[in-house]
Amino acid sequence: MSDNKQKIIIDTDCGSDDAMAIAMALNDENYEILMITAVSGNVRMKQAAYNTLTTMKVSDTSYPPVYEGSDAMLVRDWVGASDVHGDDGMGDLGLVDYSLKTTPGNAVLKMLEALRENEDKSIDIITLGPLTNLAIAIRLEPETMKRARRIIMMGTAGLGRGNVSMVAEFNIWQDPEACQIVIDSGIDPLIFVGWDACLDEAMLDPEEIEKIRSSGELGRFCIDTNVKLMNLNVKRFGYECLDMADPAAMAAALYPACIDQCDKYYCEVDLSRGPSYGAVLIDYYGFSGKTPNAYICSKLKADLYKQYIMKTLRAL
Ligand code: RIB
Ligand code: CA
Repeated sequence: MSDNKQKIIIDTDCGSDDAMAIAMALNDENYEILMITAVSGNVRMKQAAYNTLTTMKVSDTSYPPVYEGSDAMLVRDWVGASDVHGDDGMGDLGLVDYSLKTTPGNAVLKMLEALRENEDKSIDIITLGPLTNLAIAIRLEPETMKRARRIIMMGTAGLGRGNVSMVAEFNIWQDPEACQIVIDSGIDPLIFVGWDACLDEAMLDPEEIEKIRSSGELGRFCIDTNVKLMNLNVKRFGYECLDMADPAAMAAALYPACIDQCDKYYCEVDLSRGPSYGAVLIDYYGFSGKTPNAYICSKLKADLYKQYIMKTLRAL
């Protein structure tokens, strides 16, 4: 029954790779999703909420409440990712159901309420977008946020390269100040799953993509909505493949056996407004002499990770 399940909260800027990650979580019976909170990132917050609701409808397993969170970033202006995920975040295929409804209540306040009302260290928070909602929650009630069992975030370039600038990764770059607030919060553990965790052998290749697509309605939805990203990847990587950043973070969170490399470092965000604004600096060799404050997961065991994707998307 639900008592034995690990409780999770998912925070998302739901674009097409978030949708796959959310579908994976909805189909893992070991977890109870208490709520999904929306934030701006790939698309504006309200669109992210519609995309989440549409994903739940296609998945048709459980229907946790979806709460609306912050539309604006803390300091910088929002910059969308229509070139990667489409104007609607879901590949502009007309699949988004705008008749679906979010649940009344503010995402940040609902998250804090859940942490207050549930047993200490009983809830994992998994973030798939910019850290705006989390930073606001930390500013409002820092001690309540420490009641989270752990926070796993898709964010940073890991130990590798940037995907939105030479060195920065999109989720952190979109709201760098929010990320620094999370890092400074004293919440332990903080686990960043870097973009590098979904690259190389962890990328979905054409055969794997076709296997998911042909498995049924859910698989088709998860792949078709990512076709824009796949086309971009032909230019970036030279062949049709999918770098599934949010599914990588979701797998690391829900199926930790697939983690290959995850170590703790001193990390800080470059907030200097120069060319590396929004990059997370990772003190790999300990130059700063400062105490490590966050884990960076930079590699997954590709076979286990992909098996988990296939299982939870019903594509085995
Ligand atoms: O850098 C990849 C991340 O940016 C993913 O979360 C993707 O959905 C976008 O938000
Ligand atoms: Ca995302």
